[in-house]
Amino acid sequence: MANHVVLETNIPGVPVRRGKVRDVYDLGDSILLVSTDRISAFDWILPNGIPDKGKVLTQLSVFWFSQVPGPNHILTTDVDQMPFPAGTDLEQFRHRTYHVKKTRVVPIECVVRAYLAGSGWKEYQKSQTVCGVAIPPGLVESSKLPEPIFTPSTKAEEGHDENISFAKMVELVGERVATELRDHSIATFEAGAKRAIESGIIIADTKFEWGMLEDGSIILIDEVMTPDSSRFWPADQYQPGRSQPSYDKQFVRDWLELTSGWDKNSPPPELPAEIIAKTREKYVEAYERITSKKFDF
Ligand SMILES: Nc1ncnc2c1ncn2[C@@H]1O[C@H](COP(=O)(O)OP(=O)(O)OP(=O)(O)O)[C@@H](O)[C@H]1O
Ligand SMILES: [Mg+2]
Repeated sequence: MANHVVLETNIPGVPVRRGKVRDVYDLGDSILLVSTDRISAFDWILPNGIPDKGKVLTQLSVFWFSQVPGPNHILTTDVDQMPFPAGTDLEQFRHRTYHVKKTRVVPIECVVRAYLAGSGWKEYQKSQTVCGVAIPPGLVESSKLPEPIFTPSTKAEEGHDENISFAKMVELVGERVATELRDHSIATFEAGAKRAIESGIIIADTKFEWGMLEDGSIILIDEVMTPDSSRFWPADQYQPGRSQPSYDKQFVRDWLELTSGWDKNSPPPELPAEIIAKTREKYVEAYERITSKKFDF
């Protein structure tokens, strides 16, 4: 099935909730979580997929789930062991699906930042803070922060997520959960960043999601330290004082903004084949560098 784009999956008789990237099948007390090859940019799902992107996201997350400390939501990653109804076409799910414990998702995006980039860099220039956290003076774009900081945001149902202070997070989810999520997010990030730098990749920032089980315990869910949820920078090209080349949708964003003439307010245009191919290469390269394994799914 190499290079076959999967934009949507289907299980006869089972309702699906489609996120921007994932198809979510609720089986009662567990979930089948499928990363498709859909790609979004500027809050739109683009008409084309990126071949193998969903497999990269799933396989990289599976790698991280096995590397970082603490419990997570994985039940199995082997499609043949998953409770698909008889008659389901399994090929569409292979290597891109995990069967997970169903949790109550804590409605906070747990962002950890180790470098000044994106909205953090913008805010720093205005107020020398990042999401309200005071940062030392004299830093430039892409500077490393003295230590990783936790900058939560709300998971908006519609539109953009909103950055919130830690105090606001305590108001929303309580002191115990807020503290645990902050500490676990930073610890998980640090474990990941340490592993990634050994392969020459800087994880500048990332976003985690956490879910609560019936007994109140909290586990790591969703995707972990992928190019969609993180900024990955090649360490050998790192140079503070400018934006960095990255392993994500940069080609797609650049083409949409600089070349396509799209207004971002109407359905987005078809991507050129060359942009699709280059983007696929970047995703695969991120997987191969971080895991030190060949991408052969
Ligand atoms: N173990 C889990 N239990 C319950 N929900 C989960 C679990 N793991 C992931 N999820 C949820 O599954 C969904 C994955 O879909 P996807 O990443 O495509 O959504 P999204 O576009 O990021 O956001 P949205 O959820 O708003 O559509 C997310 O809403 C995520 O919170
Ligand atoms: Mg998501």
